Amino acid sequence: MKLRVTVCIGSSCHLKGSRQVVEELRNIIEDNCLEDKVEIAGTFCLGQCQKGVCVTIGDEFYSVSPDTVEEFFKNEIQTRI
Ligand code: FES
Repeated sequence: MKLRVTVCIGSSCHLKGSRQVVEELRNIIEDNCLEDKVEIAGTFCLGQCQKGVCVTIGDEFYSVSPDTVEEFFKNEIQTRI
């Protein structure tokens, strides 16, 4: 089963760089040939705007920024696949 990582693309998270977060995640996944294992999806506002960029994996909630994407990938994605 693919790991589904959902990034909020609501307006507040968008202003905080959700687009870069999505692009960066896609690049890292591509570089590591993980397209079969990880899926990046977008979602509308999760009601946690002040914590943006909001990212969820299953029921887990994470606050990610373009600067912390790599760390997030290492700690939360790589450890799950
Ligand atoms: S815009 Fe992302 S939580 Fe509201």
